Amino acid sequence: MIALKDIDQLGPDEAAQELARLAKEIAKHDRHYYKKDAPKISDAAYDELRRRNNAIEARFPDLVRSDSPTKRVGTRPSEGFGKIAHTVPMLSLDNVFSDDELREFTKRVRRFLRWPESEPLAFTAEPKIDGLSCGIRYERGKLVQAATRGDGQTGEDVTQNVRTICDVPKILAGDGWPEVLEVRGEIYIPTTEFAAMNAAQEAAGKPVYANPRNAAAGSLRQLDPAISAKRPLRFFAYAWGEVSAPFAPTQFEAVRKFGKWGFSINDHMRLCHSADEMIAVYMLIERERAALGYDIDGVVYKVDRLDLQTRLGFVSRSPRWAMAHKFPPEQASTILEKIDIQVGRTGALTPVAKLKPVTVGGVVVSNASLHNADEVKRLDVRVGDQVLIQRAGDVIPQVVKVLNPDRTRRAAPFAFPTHCPCPLSTPAVRELDEKTGEAGVITRCSGEFACPFQRVRRLEHFVSRQAFDIEGLGKKQIAAFFEAGEITEPADIFTLKDRDDGLKLEAREGWGELSASNLFAAIEERRHISLERLLIALGIRHVGQTTARLLSTSYISWQNFHGTMLAAKDRTSEHFIQLTALDGIGDVMAEAIVNYFAEPHNEGLVERLLAQITVQDAIPPKQDSPVAGKTVVFTGKLVEMSRDEAKAGAAALGAKVAGSVSAKTDILVAGPGAGSKLKKATDLGIKTMTEEEWLALIKA
Ligand code: IVH
Repeated sequence: MIALKDIDQLGPDEAAQELARLAKEIAKHDRHYYKKDAPKISDAAYDELRRRNNAIEARFPDLVRSDSPTKRVGTRPSEGFGKIAHTVPMLSLDNVFSDDELREFTKRVRRFLRWPESEPLAFTAEPKIDGLSCGIRYERGKLVQAATRGDGQTGEDVTQNVRTICDVPKILAGDGWPEVLEVRGEIYIPTTEFAAMNAAQEAAGKPVYANPRNAAAGSLRQLDPAISAKRPLRFFAYAWGEVSAPFAPTQFEAVRKFGKWGFSINDHMRLCHSADEMIAVYMLIERERAALGYDIDGVVYKVDRLDLQTRLGFVSRSPRWAMAHKFPPEQASTILEKIDIQVGRTGALTPVAKLKPVTVGGVVVSNASLHNADEVKRLDVRVGDQVLIQRAGDVIPQVVKVLNPDRTRRAAPFAFPTHCPCPLSTPAVRELDEKTGEAGVITRCSGEFACPFQRVRRLEHFVSRQAFDIEGLGKKQIAAFFEAGEITEPADIFTLKDRDDGLKLEAREGWGELSASNLFAAIEERRHISLERLLIALGIRHVGQTTARLLSTSYISWQNFHGTMLAAKDRTSEHFIQLTALDGIGDVMAEAIVNYFAEPHNEGLVERLLAQITVQDAIPPKQDSPVAGKTVVFTGKLVEMSRDEAKAGAAALGAKVAGSVSAKTDILVAGPGAGSKLKKATDLGIKTMTEEEWLALIKA
């Protein structure tokens, strides 16, 4: 066997070569395993290959290949774990990075709850563990299931592996636990154990992990629970999902109960009664960070009272009642070798700093974003400069400043291109800010549908995870199909198989019988698509997941949505007014949506795509409430709750909250001081009610 070089000794070129070799090698073993059902190597040896691949990818994220084994369909791990749908979604946390932002968070919570500054409001503060979240389900006190977070809706079934973690009780201790209890928390590897684990790996000539989090993820995702069992995995319980009955009045007491029931809980959790106290705990935890014995990346604050957590609810993917306060990003200095221009999906020209590779927080960085022309000018970065860069968590690294601006013989200032770097070299224009009408920061290629770079980006977006999510069709494959003229617009993806007689995919470089049939199967699977995913995939300006969800639950079917948007071309029509009345759709967004469908090129593209796919209707939110599907407008002063809480509560019951009154309004809730909206509603004969009547209606 050839001795493999330690991963931390690899330079970028060697790492790229090694990743190419591993991709080929792993693909070969996958073929033996699947097609011939006759693996040529042991599971342990196969795992070793994957682990080395993952560890190199973790250290060199820029070098991850589009045909990486971690991305491919049909490889063993993605087949190996069953899927578990979370009964209560596993959400993530919003972040703040400064004391001021934290103070703003506490103020926002108070405003939402109408909680006067003079009244005490308690928050818990605890370390934010840098591991992986996991939900562990207990029925009648017995561990029955454990799942990773996955995409928040569905995770992987890791029950057998979680059973091997020493501080996860198999049977709950004590009493008083609800019949069904899903305890959530973080799986991690303590720092000392991580060092020992890596030392042992190294001594055995095996790959090392970049950091404890990757090591924990790699260890948990071992298909063989016996391997997982040997890894020093630990678990802190800090939250919960489905519970059959309430078991505590506060966050603090709930977590204390977890401790009594046999879980490890973090003993640095404190109760705070003001933003000042929260900041004091943050500073304390930051000081103790190095000595904790496990990696943390910030502090998490949670509103202590659970009844208040319920009132605060969620916005998009994070709770309004919790916040992560992240530690400052890690920094390093390196040399700027080059400034490249990338063209985005909407034609925006983004300058990217190409750096001499440097390790920042355990990861090798060789690219950093320079955002736009103004930022390049502000930083005055020039090729050859020594620059300070920083990275925080998974965010794209940034250039902070030039460290040696005063040296002699510096390169000339960077001349921002006046033309798109695409083969058409169309002029790039500094566009006006849509809101202010003044010169904006974005320089955009004016080539639109003609610019091949934009077209490729749009296709990449179309197949991306939140959109059509077609496995096996990543950036590299899209680029190759586009180059060959075989996929030039979304509809082409769905006719690929029919054209395959001529294309002969499986005989091509980089493809085989298995990967070609996997790709066709993945495409087939997506012929039925949700309205939300379709709307994300179209890449309409300003329409991300939240807006796509709002539009799909408001218009329910593609036919209804599409027909309405075409009719909304007339800005005075009821259709357009109704669109802008949706809470969360501003004028700029409404214009962008309607303009998208008014553009003949898009219409053709959409028509050809729709001939290939079936769009599933959205499920209207909570139909069983008395206000589900109703359009509600709030006006005037509310007494019992803040405007934000009233709106969030109505939306949670399936009502559409609008900002202005139109013929489509079903209910106007008018408090004292209501003016023109009340008059308009009365004129239109719309049902109006007081806040008290509204509360009685929704509590009914
Ligand atoms: S509470 C509804 N508490 O941070 C969200 N999360 O960036 C409940 N995390 O996905 C999460 N330590 O994996 C919470 N003490 C802590 C945490 C914590 C780490 C993770 C968790 C979450 C991620 C969000």
